[in-house]
Amino acid sequence: PSSSPTAMRQIIPPDMLERGRCPFDPPPGLRERRGQGAVQPLPLRNGAQAWLVTGFEEARTVLSDPRFSADKMRHRDATSMQPHEVDATTTPEPPATREDGFFVFMDPPEHTRLRRLLTGQFTVRRMKALESRVTEIAVEHIEAMKAAGDEADLVPAFALPLPSLVICELLGVDYADRAEFQEHTSVALDSSADPERRALSGAELYGFMQRLVAHKRDNPADDLLSGLVHDADPPLTDAQLVDVALVLLGAGHETTANQLSLSTFALLENPDQLAALRADPSLIDNAVEELLRHLSIIQLGVNRVTTEPVTLGGVDIPAGATVVIATPEVNRDAQHWPDPDRLDVRRPRTPHLAFGHGVHQCLGQQLARVEMQIGLRELITRLPGLRLAVPAEKIPVRNEMLIFGVHSLPVTWS
Ligand code: HEM
Repeated sequence: PSSSPTAMRQIIPPDMLERGRCPFDPPPGLRERRGQGAVQPLPLRNGAQAWLVTGFEEARTVLSDPRFSADKMRHRDATSMQPHEVDATTTPEPPATREDGFFVFMDPPEHTRLRRLLTGQFTVRRMKALESRVTEIAVEHIEAMKAAGDEADLVPAFALPLPSLVICELLGVDYADRAEFQEHTSVALDSSADPERRALSGAELYGFMQRLVAHKRDNPADDLLSGLVHDADPPLTDAQLVDVALVLLGAGHETTANQLSLSTFALLENPDQLAALRADPSLIDNAVEELLRHLSIIQLGVNRVTTEPVTLGGVDIPAGATVVIATPEVNRDAQHWPDPDRLDVRRPRTPHLAFGHGVHQCLGQQLARVEMQIGLRELITRLPGLRLAVPAEKIPVRNEMLIFGVHSLPVTWS
């Protein structure tokens, strides 16, 4: 969900993203920095100097203090993490007020207006209705896997389609158009796909969203997108609505898909934890929270830029500097969690930063939790013999991705 993952991925030193022997632990290159301070200099591959935040309290400060901006375009991020910001000397001045809808990259008050419009649409009634659709979608996909044999790759068969179809529900995509939607999103949002193919799918997706917004203007229905089209006062432009729809998709799909498949992998590799969950299904909410903390899939994807010089954790940071939150380390801060490296589904719930913090804290977090709780619950109960179909070392993990996870997860249940 954070700024241009591809551009950011290219400038982060690769050893800070590459997992070691245990795929569920933070990358060794990141872990080595434990004990070197809660705020550390981070030299980027493009020669720029950024700052890495590994402490829980310091990370919360970054995400709640307005001197750390999400609007990297306006604050001329020195590391040029925005793919469209080619050269600070030739790019035009950003407009005084933003006209796009990419509110993830906005600060208050621009962010506030769009965020409020969105939260107003995430109603209790709508979320309840989505919950029963999540169950139907999960059950349908697991039953289809069972009908097709006793082995499947859980990523394409379950983890990718579930959040994608949930976003279709949210945006009110017609059933007839869902195959097309899923085809474009699977490539456009796959940060490991070939860039040229991704760009083509991205353009297709943009066109798809334009047609969807136009359709909702003329044929309002009971979905969130229709609500945004018709309830906003002053109204949003079509271009803003398309941006907002793309933000929801970009933030809610790859994240949830990877969290689902990596969580399943982690439970299969921690049989005592899986057994505890099977023995007491009421632990599921707790387990999901612990898996979010323990796996922290958004490795180094949450970042900000300073609007003025700031002292953080005793370290002086100049204006215009990139500050990167090391979420996997932050969520294992030993001052906050005893035995932080242990996956413990019974661990008492305390706040973690897997969904961020402050004004940009994940807007879809309740929905993501529901998808995880229902998805994992149905997998465990409908496939009691679930296990990996290949040795754990053979599972291809998403090294060098800002959103960590697995490329595929072959499982069997015979
Ligand atoms: C923001 C994580 C699922 C929508 C965020 C942020 C994080 C995050 C860390 C903050 C980014 C920042 O501060 O720069 C996750 C994880 C998910 C997940 C780990 C799944 C396990 C979802 C879902 C949706 C969603 C399902 C919606 C369908 C958003 C939106 C934002 C956001 C719209 C931007 C909010 C804003 O800027 O005000 N997410 N997310 N996320 N997330 Fe999620």
